[in-house]
Amino acid sequence: MTDLASYLASPQVSDNLRAYATRAHRNLIGGAWRDASDGARLDVHEPSSGEVLCTVPSATIDDAKAAVTAARNAFDDKRWRGMLPGEREKIMLRLADLVDGHFDELCVLESLDVGKPLSWTKIIDVPEVSRYTRYMAGFCTRIDGRTTHSSIPGDLFAYTLEQPVGVVVGIIPWNFPLVMSAWKIMAPLAAGCSVVLKPAENTPLSAIRLVELCLEAGVPEGVVNLVTGLGRTVGAALVSDPRVDKVTFTGSVPTGKSIGRAAMDNVTRVTLELGGKSPIIVMPDADLEQTARGVADAIFFNTGQNCVAGSRLFAHKDIYDDLIARVADIADKMVLAPGLDPSCELGPLVSEDHMAKVLSYLDKGRDEGAELVCGGAREGERGYFVRPTVFSNTTADMAIRREEIFGPVLSAAPFSDEAEVIKAANATEFGLAASIWTQNLRTAHRLIPEIDAGTVWVNTHNLIDAPIPFGGFKQSGFGRENGPENLSAYLETKAVWINYGDQ
Ligand code: NAI
Ligand code: MG
Repeated sequence: MTDLASYLASPQVSDNLRAYATRAHRNLIGGAWRDASDGARLDVHEPSSGEVLCTVPSATIDDAKAAVTAARNAFDDKRWRGMLPGEREKIMLRLADLVDGHFDELCVLESLDVGKPLSWTKIIDVPEVSRYTRYMAGFCTRIDGRTTHSSIPGDLFAYTLEQPVGVVVGIIPWNFPLVMSAWKIMAPLAAGCSVVLKPAENTPLSAIRLVELCLEAGVPEGVVNLVTGLGRTVGAALVSDPRVDKVTFTGSVPTGKSIGRAAMDNVTRVTLELGGKSPIIVMPDADLEQTARGVADAIFFNTGQNCVAGSRLFAHKDIYDDLIARVADIADKMVLAPGLDPSCELGPLVSEDHMAKVLSYLDKGRDEGAELVCGGAREGERGYFVRPTVFSNTTADMAIRREEIFGPVLSAAPFSDEAEVIKAANATEFGLAASIWTQNLRTAHRLIPEIDAGTVWVNTHNLIDAPIPFGGFKQSGFGRENGPENLSAYLETKAVWINYGDQ
């Protein structure tokens, strides 16, 4: 919509931030900022102009090894896990304060890099990072074991000791780079681990800024490391390194499976947070105005680039036409604009490749015979904008109903009764999330246990917060992020037996 030079002259972009966002960035290995060992670089594009914003190192396999060595050394010499828990907590709280202190800068950076509406980074991304960091900081002083009683005769006493798992590799996608960076750094830090983070190749900037802030907060050098580069080289080298104790990954199902297989060769622990095709179930008694807004937010938030996006709508036949018309009306009125533009309601997709993928699904939907209600095309010729799209009368065999599109594309169908909608909602390989829209408590409670999903929302969608566990059933992965469940993924339980009887 605009060229990058004029875009970067937007009033929200300070001179300092412009210089930061456009500079040649480096990797953080063992507290030192480094280029790739062979000097190779990757371009980072700004999605509303499609132009190159900056470059980052295209890390090599040697760089991956160096980052693991740094993290390993930091773990083995106990420079972090050996600190008093209260000291680690203070450093993490200082980090949260630094995130708040750099609020505007982080919001603009994330918007520039991913294309997100600035207004949303202010409400969602950056507040989540400081909230989550504070939540996890609290665990530093709250890692407890339990005492227990054996039935084996004798003077025996047993207890459990929770110890940090070791070196953690975090591999993250491009849809919520800052939030994902925080998720993959803070829980390991609270547990006493050290970390190597690899951001997605197209959105590395906020991750780089966050690891800088870790150093500034007082996290010792080598405890948090960052390498930028391609998944198939540097990512693959990280997850298959036998010195790594735990891999935590968020991204696509095929990549997750390949990472899981590589990790399993070394029996490296794995958490996989994979894709979704989340159903929205609307019962006939739902408040239609609230629900229409909720459906639009569920699918169009973050331009549909959201693992929990409500991409399959099942609405009762009595209200189906009315609801579709309302959602389409909201979609048609949505303002597509660059993220920093105050009028922006829907930003661009993240990359040209991703836009091509989303557009290919628009063709598939039409070819498969779904009814296009609104949207269905790219907007403009500059940047990666796609109109919010609703397909009606979709069937279970259609690609747009089965596959994760990861764009602003809703596939809708009517249903007649509860048994039918439960079956339809669960007819997917995914199981990340679902929402149920009804004013009837009984209906909600009947449906909640029937839906195969790690999260079920009632009369809302997309809510994620630090204390509430988040993760998938089925091929949406395993393990949980957020909540105490997240922390335990970075701890090993040691059972200790003491014989205090005669020897
Ligand atoms: P991806 O899953 O391939 O990439 C995610 C991360 O994994 C990136 O940092 C990438 O560099 C890294 N990676 C890739 N291959 C790797 C390997 N062999 N070993 C280690 N790390 C590796 O996702 P991609 O290609 O960016 O997007 C493809 C599709 O995946 C999207 O169109 C979308 O449907 C889905 N996706 C789902 C996400 C989710 O949160 N559920 C997030 C991002 C993408
Ligand atoms: Mg990929």
